[in-house]
Amino acid sequence: MISTASAAAHPNIAFIKYWGDNNQELRIPAHSSLSMNLKELETRTRVSFDPSLAGDQLILNGIHEEGAALQRVSKMLNRIRNMGGLNAFAIVESENNFPTGAGIASSASAFAALSCAASSAAGLCLSERELSRLARTGSGSASRSIPEGYVEWQAGTDHDSSYAFSIASPDHWDLADLIVLISEEHKETGSSLGHSLADTSPIQGARVEDANRRLEICRKALLERDFSIFADIVEQDCNLMHAVMMTSDPPLYYWFPGTLEVMRAVQIWRSHGIPVCYTIDAGPNVHVICPVKEAEKVKRELGSLEGVNSVLECTPGGPTHLLESDFPGV
Ligand code: DP6
Repeated sequence: MISTASAAAHPNIAFIKYWGDNNQELRIPAHSSLSMNLKELETRTRVSFDPSLAGDQLILNGIHEEGAALQRVSKMLNRIRNMGGLNAFAIVESENNFPTGAGIASSASAFAALSCAASSAAGLCLSERELSRLARTGSGSASRSIPEGYVEWQAGTDHDSSYAFSIASPDHWDLADLIVLISEEHKETGSSLGHSLADTSPIQGARVEDANRRLEICRKALLERDFSIFADIVEQDCNLMHAVMMTSDPPLYYWFPGTLEVMRAVQIWRSHGIPVCYTIDAGPNVHVICPVKEAEKVKRELGSLEGVNSVLECTPGGPTHLLESDFPGV
């Protein structure tokens, strides 16, 4: 008998970044992190366990994937098959409503949606915490896409203690994430390899040691909606991560000239009184964060910069959830 379930998940943007693991296999991070789900971006995934299949299949935005991408998905399916006492292989069909290759990390929403759909299709009924742990084993940041809104991923020390939980619902604070697309090139070094290089930087130790201080300042500013304190700590955390990347062996440079152009402009705008700050993941695109009511003004300013191709506007999003009927496509 074929057993099917579908789920939807949002990617997230980290304000306090995850960079470096204590346990690579289980993706137990070196320190805790904090993020916001992105409502307007979504991955929808259908998983069908089918006893007649000779192997797992992955169809991403209509295209059959093989190699590393399929292997990573099969690894997650194996974990779920073990948990549910299942033998059947599965077809995984997944679609993003945002352009693949636009430099927007999709592994978070991909593994959040996959864990939710596959565990349900396997007959498991997992709690939010169990799902967050499971999603983490596929992609660290996926653990943060499971709960709603503003989310903290407690590093923990083992599989049981490393999971994410919501610290505030999406309507707690109307923040906008204006994703400035600088380049649509595929990133050279993926996050998984990047995490494994973090400890080769002589400054990663200091960064990790200071992580709880940054997280506490950021959490408090977020809960009190204090943009000024929030902005300073988010930028410091981002710069520390990129300093580690640039001083790893081999060094990782994710910025393009346009990246720096936006960073500098954002700092000038803030010094002129506009509540705005930036953060950047493992790629050249800049996430420009501001209160929603400032978004139109900030978008106009961004439009005047040379290196800016286009801007995607996102607001705080809900949790990963099962889709009642089969997903209709996005
Ligand atoms: C820079 O979760 O993408 O976006 O576990 O290897 O999939 P894997 O890594 P991933 O790392 C995220 C890195 C980051 C910062 C962050 O989102 O916290």
